[in-house]
Amino acid sequence: TDQVPFYGTYQAGILTPVQNHIQLVAFDVQTDRRDELIDLLRRWTRACARLAASLSLGESDSQYVPPEDTGEAEGLSASHLTFTFGCGASLFAGDRFGIAHKRPAALRDLPTFDLDQLDDKWSGGDLIVQICADDQQVVFHALRNLTRIGRGIVKIRWTQAGFQRSKAADATGGTPRNLFGFKDGTGNPDLTKDKVRNKHLFYQWQDGSPWLTNGTFLVVRRIQMHLEVWDRTILKEQERTFGRERASGAPLGSTNEFASVTPDQRTLHGETQLPADSHTAVAHGTSKEQLLRRSYSYQAGVNETTGALDAGLLFVSFQRSPDQFITIQKRLAASDRLNEYITHRGSALFACFGGIQKGGYIGDALFA
Ligand code: HEM
Repeated sequence: TDQVPFYGTYQAGILTPVQNHIQLVAFDVQTDRRDELIDLLRRWTRACARLAASLSLGESDSQYVPPEDTGEAEGLSASHLTFTFGCGASLFAGDRFGIAHKRPAALRDLPTFDLDQLDDKWSGGDLIVQICADDQQVVFHALRNLTRIGRGIVKIRWTQAGFQRSKAADATGGTPRNLFGFKDGTGNPDLTKDKVRNKHLFYQWQDGSPWLTNGTFLVVRRIQMHLEVWDRTILKEQERTFGRERASGAPLGSTNEFASVTPDQRTLHGETQLPADSHTAVAHGTSKEQLLRRSYSYQAGVNETTGALDAGLLFVSFQRSPDQFITIQKRLAASDRLNEYITHRGSALFACFGGIQKGGYIGDALFA
């Protein structure tokens, strides 16, 4: 079966093997009534549990009301559909819902990083839903129906879609490549280990806001990649930029994709192997901060002024604390060789809830 359970200790869509498609949707809450917000979260819970199990949302034979389910996923499999919910700092602002005292200290606006060129239209949001599946129509059906259920209570602030090579196209199941042609995801921490998960990925009850236990912080960055500039760059320089070989994905100076990144083994025959300003070297640092990257590529048509494609990385990372992202991004903004080829256009931070239990609802610990 290609169903991923909606209920569990952690929300789905974090440890779930990466699906072919992503749709991120950020909502702003329009109501000031706590009971209306909770009621929506309950209705979303029911809907998500059904959709993840490839069940229709309800009846379509009433004489008096439109069908409960919009129908375009009729007969389609769940396609590993997952939902991951979280809330932004703005949900706590003004204490509209009586939860201001529960805002985790770390859930606040990310600092402005050097070189940021953020656009409001890709940033912020009271609530986030990450929808992933292996089928784009299944994803759209979910997006549409969550939005429909939320009408009058929430309003879409922004939505962004991303893709990868499909699993069907890659029989080897290797690390997917980004739009610069490099394998992306190699250096992710080994999350099969409990210890690693608890240290780097999931919020622990002693971190200060017990309601967020088994949750995690989600960072979304819309990063435009300047394809024309990159495409005029010779392979050797591209490889120095990432600090990795394009073909194998191995760190320069090694031949194995998964060889460890060892900054002290940087020279061979007197030549620098892994440039100190390469993206891999700078992001790695001393490997003290680690995060789970679960990014996708995006494309958004053509820039009407320049005629260039607007495409890049929908950077998605999960981490126990936003500080992990902040520390790495500060280093990257200061000295990453990749900066010449990219521009950060959007930014958002969310606290994703712990897993949802049967009988409970999305975010219930926050409202308990
Ligand atoms: C590694 C691409 C932005 C954090 C990598 C690698 C590639 C890559 C190809 C090497 C393979 C791998 O380990 O996955 C990109 C591109 C970006 C981008 C194209 C922007 C368009 C970022 C940002 C962050 C980040 C914004 C976090 C602030 C990392 C980390 C690693 C990594 C932590 C692993 C380093 C290690 O080996 O320990 N990235 N990245 N990247 N990137 Fe990025």
